[in-house]
Amino acid sequence: MATDQIQSLWANAQASLEGFQKTQSETSRIEALAKVTKLQRALEQPKDAILKLSYQPMVFMALKVAHDMQVFPVLAKATSPVSAKELAAVKPADPLLVERIMRLLVSFDIVEEPEPSTYLPTAISKEMVNRPAIGTVESLFCEFLPIMQKTPEYLEATNYQNPEDPLRAPLQYTHNVEQDGFAWLCEHPDALTRFNNFMEGQRANRVHWGDWFPIQERILAGADSNPERALLVDIGGGRGHDLMLFQKRFPDAPGKLVLEDLPSVIDEAAPELNACGIEGVKYDFFNAPNPVKGARVYYFKFVFHDWSDEKARVLLNYVIAAMEAGYSKLVIEEYILPDKNAQFLHGTTDMAVMMFCSGLERTRQQWTSLLESVGLQPTFWTREGEGLGVIESVLPGSNGTNGTNGGPR
Ligand SMILES: C[S@@+](CC[C@H](N)C(=O)[O-])C[C@H]1O[C@@H](n2cnc3c(N)ncnc32)[C@H](O)[C@@H]1O
Repeated sequence: MATDQIQSLWANAQASLEGFQKTQSETSRIEALAKVTKLQRALEQPKDAILKLSYQPMVFMALKVAHDMQVFPVLAKATSPVSAKELAAVKPADPLLVERIMRLLVSFDIVEEPEPSTYLPTAISKEMVNRPAIGTVESLFCEFLPIMQKTPEYLEATNYQNPEDPLRAPLQYTHNVEQDGFAWLCEHPDALTRFNNFMEGQRANRVHWGDWFPIQERILAGADSNPERALLVDIGGGRGHDLMLFQKRFPDAPGKLVLEDLPSVIDEAAPELNACGIEGVKYDFFNAPNPVKGARVYYFKFVFHDWSDEKARVLLNYVIAAMEAGYSKLVIEEYILPDKNAQFLHGTTDMAVMMFCSGLERTRQQWTSLLESVGLQPTFWTREGEGLGVIESVLPGSNGTNGTNGGPR
C-alpha cells in the first residue's frame, strides 16, 4: 500500500485513539480497534496476511495444548518469570515441547518471554484460568472445529443453499446424526458442559441488559406484586446466569424468576438455581405452549439466532399463547446487525449458529419481518458497542409500549 494511504490510516487510528482516551466509551474503543486493525492490515503484505490467516488455527491448537498442560494456572500465580522446565513439571511434559508451544503463544502476545525460555503471563493468559474462558476454548476446539472443517464440503454437497433445517446443518453432516444440535449436546454430557461454560463466557464480561435498559420503568413499574406470579421467565437461559445477574441488580423485584431449558440443562443447573431461589422448569419450547402463563416478561437471549424463521415462528406462537394481553412482554436480547460493515463477532457468531443448527444472525429488517409475521410489533432498543440490542414486543392491541415511549433507537 502507498505510503500516503498508510499515513492517512495512521492519522485515522490516532484520531480514534484520542477519541477513546477522551470518552472511554465502548463505541469509541471498538471504533479505535477497527481503525488500528485497518492500519495493521495495510502494513501487511497480502500474501503474508493470507498465510497468517491460514495458520491461525495453529495458534488455537497451541492455546488448547497449553491449557491441557496446565500452563496457565502456573503462569497466573507467577511473581517472576517461569521457565519452560518449571511449566513442564506440572504434567509432566517434555520441556522442549513446552518451549515450542510457548513460542507460538509469545508471538501472539498470549504470554511474554522476558528471557529465552522463561515466561510471564499477559492479560490473556490470566483470563485462561477462568471457567468461561476455558469453556470458550474447549467448546470451540472440540465441538465447533471439526464441524468447521466439514462445512465447505457440506455446502458444496447442498449446492450452496442457505441452511434452514436444524436437522440438516453441518453438525448433522459431520457426525451423521438426525437430531438438532441441542439434542445432540444433551447426549454428550462433556460437550454440553463445555458448551454451557462457553455460553457463560460469552456473557460474563458483557454489559447486562439491566445496566442500560430501563428495567424499572418498562418492566418493574406495572409488575404484579403477587410473589407467586412470574416476573421474568428466561427461556433457553442455559444455567440461569442472566437471571442471577438480574437478581443481583434488582433484589427487591416482585414475583418469581423462572428458568426454562431442556431437562439435562436444568438438571445441571439445579444446585445453583436452588441456592438462588430461581425456579427451574424443564421445557422443550418447540413442543407445547409455555407452561408459565401471564408472566410479566418472557425473555430470550441468543435463542432465536439458533433457528430459521420457520422454527422461530413455532416458538413465538407458543410464547404468545402464554402472554397476557396488556401485561406480558416479550423481550429478545440479541445482535441487531447493521445493514453494512458488521463486526467480526457478528460474522463469526453467524457462522457458528449456521454450522450448529442452521441458525442466523438478523438485521433490524429481518427481526421486524419475523416478529410482524406472528402479529407482534417490535420496538428496538440499541446501545453503544458491539451491536447487542433489546427487542421489546407486546401483543397487538395492548396499550402503550409499541414504539410510542421515549428511549428506543
Ligand atoms: C445459544 S444458547 C443461549 C443460552 C442463554 N440464553 C445465553 O444467552 O447464554 C441456547 C439455549 O437454548 C436451549 N435450547 C435449545 N433447544 C431448546 C428447546 N427445544 N427447548 C428449550 N431450550 C432449548 C439450549 O439448551 C441453550 O441453553
